[in-house]
Amino acid sequence: MPLIERRVDASEALPDDLEILRKVVSGCRLCALSKTRTKTVFGEGNPHATLMFVGEGPGAQEDITGRPFVGRAGELLTKMIENAIEIPRESVYIANIVKCRPPNNRVPTPEEAYTCLPYLMKQIELVSPRVIVALGATAYHYLSGDRSGITKVRGEVIDMGAYLLVPTYHPSYLLRNPSAKKEVYQDLLKIKRLLCENC
Ligand code: URA
Repeated sequence: MPLIERRVDASEALPDDLEILRKVVSGCRLCALSKTRTKTVFGEGNPHATLMFVGEGPGAQEDITGRPFVGRAGELLTKMIENAIEIPRESVYIANIVKCRPPNNRVPTPEEAYTCLPYLMKQIELVSPRVIVALGATAYHYLSGDRSGITKVRGEVIDMGAYLLVPTYHPSYLLRNPSAKKEVYQDLLKIKRLLCENC
């Protein structure tokens, strides 16, 4: 069975309630990342958000606090949301491809990502956002199934049926390459326009 169908299949068995799903995730032992995590990082934000951000996986601060994007990259993400899109961080939903920190912040393995993906698929189904922003290549790859590099696809609007997918650079990349912030700013303005199309 193709991977995309398998992960949708697996998410069908999960609860149709975000808080119950959070509890399921907090006890998850399905992959090796569960052995080294401090806390699972389920995701947070408006359960009815029209805009959702998906990162790669928790870092050190996220692992300690159990909250997504609270370290330096998170501070930048918050500024991106509040200064460019001009909405409060609390009004969006933020999650990751994997819910447990990969040791030394390495990229999650395909096995880890595909094992964890049904949780994210269920979150997407329940929140039902209009637009999902894939932060970086890992999020884009697992959400779209496309292996194109992030530089090639950033700023595109991909119709995924249930939502529009917009890939852009990960805030950690922007911390290392501040000159790329202007491209992300353009992507964020495009996202703001997409959200306002019918308002
Ligand atoms: N980077 C991510 O991809 N996710 C987080 O939650 C924090 C940093």
